[in-house]
Amino acid sequence: MFLSSLLILGAVRAVLGKTQLYGMNIAGFEFGCLITGDCPLDTIQPPLASLGFGDGAGQMAHFAKDDSMNIFRLPVSWQYLTNNVIGPIDDANFATYDLLMQACLKTGAYCMIDIHNFARWNGGIIGQGGPTNDQFADLWSQLATKYADNAFVMFELMNEPHDLDLTGWVASCQAAVTAIRAAEKVSHIILLPGENFSSAGTFLSAGWGPALATVTNPDGSTTNLLLDLHKYLDVDNSGDHPNCVMDNVADTFEPVAAWLRLNKRQAILSETGAGVSDQSCFVDFCAQNTCINQNSDVYLGYIAWAAGSVDSSYMLDLAPVETGTTWTDVPMAVKCVIGVWDTDGPGAPAWGLTLNADGIAAPSSTVNVTSSTSSAASSSTSSTASSTTTSTGITTSTTKSGSATQTSHGPSSTQSKTSSASGAKMTSGFTVGSLILAALFL
Ligand SMILES: *[C@@H]1O[C@H](CO)[C@@H](O)[C@H](O)[C@H]1NC(C)=O
Ligand SMILES: *[C@@H]1O[C@H](CO)[C@@H](O)[C@H](O)[C@H]1NC(C)=O
Repeated sequence: MFLSSLLILGAVRAVLGKTQLYGMNIAGFEFGCLITGDCPLDTIQPPLASLGFGDGAGQMAHFAKDDSMNIFRLPVSWQYLTNNVIGPIDDANFATYDLLMQACLKTGAYCMIDIHNFARWNGGIIGQGGPTNDQFADLWSQLATKYADNAFVMFELMNEPHDLDLTGWVASCQAAVTAIRAAEKVSHIILLPGENFSSAGTFLSAGWGPALATVTNPDGSTTNLLLDLHKYLDVDNSGDHPNCVMDNVADTFEPVAAWLRLNKRQAILSETGAGVSDQSCFVDFCAQNTCINQNSDVYLGYIAWAAGSVDSSYMLDLAPVETGTTWTDVPMAVKCVIGVWDTDGPGAPAWGLTLNADGIAAPSSTVNVTSSTSSAASSSTSSTASSTTTSTGITTSTTKSGSATQTSHGPSSTQSKTSSASGAKMTSGFTVGSLILAALFL
């Protein structure tokens, strides 16, 4: 009894310590999207070197190999996926986006689709005068069909909803979840985004967290449904200022963690970033991400903003710099994203989502257990990337991050990630955690 309890707990708590997932946003397919849900097609910059923009594939390969990152978020606009109509996914545009998706999956990481539309289409709110819930659910049904059997593709229903009726938005998300579960063959992790631009800072005060937590799977469970959090550290939570004025610990991530723990739910911080040059951000961003790791039972991970097609003039530029065949991470990424990912936390709880010891296993499936172990590298039969480069109507006009340079460059840096102890983070967490657990029982 005693020993078997220990063994069972040890097996369930296979990953202890820091968050199970951590990684980077690979931006570009959403460039030009406004908070009105207007997303022009001529301002996007797919982060694909083959199309003349940032080398998202190379960046992800580096982040996974050299930094052990195991999740990437791949923003894209609804308009791009459907080529500007509310309706069927456009084959050519999807094939281009899927090039990035397949490059991501090839690293063995989780790869998140983010529909970067602020709960809107050209000014109209989903389910509230804009696209209907059925149309929103249809978009997700199509995407869930494309990646039906690959549980390494995660679905973030929407980027940063804001200024809408919360009850109505919960219904929109419920419609999308129900549609995804009907279309998929393995159970995907779905992120439920809330009000106020998904701000973790108003998760409790605006009540959006508890409201979104009422969304369920068709069987009534909440398996693989995560609360989706965003947070910045500047004066208005926009990420548009070079300096940081808050660390989001005592007033945000600790109380949200307490709520999640009490209610047996987990969340992921899918977008957070800080000015890469200001000393205030080195203090606050590190403190925030350390706190996330210290609450790794309820926070599944954090994803920094941003690499991809960003360029070196962007104040939140975390793109690694390529010199020859060597990639060098920028100092902010080294210190506050990568470096803090060895902070000890409680590890995954028995009731929560637990990945395997490598941190990159498919989650258990509530839909089809037999196929939940599909390899990360295997692409779904219906999503095989087209090897031909399709025309996307992309031009190199203005972007939110400055000039349309071909590759992204971080600030010049001599710090190389290769010297830090990123090698065996998972296994050391497992060992130390197991010993602590054993000590508790003995
Ligand atoms: C959060 O959203 C609600 C509903 O739109 C709004 O009333 C409230 O002012 C927002 N709070 C903040 C801090 O933005
Ligand atoms: C589970 O997946 C397998 C392989 O994709 C498929 O043949 C089978 O029909 C699925 N079962 C259910 C219940 O969906």
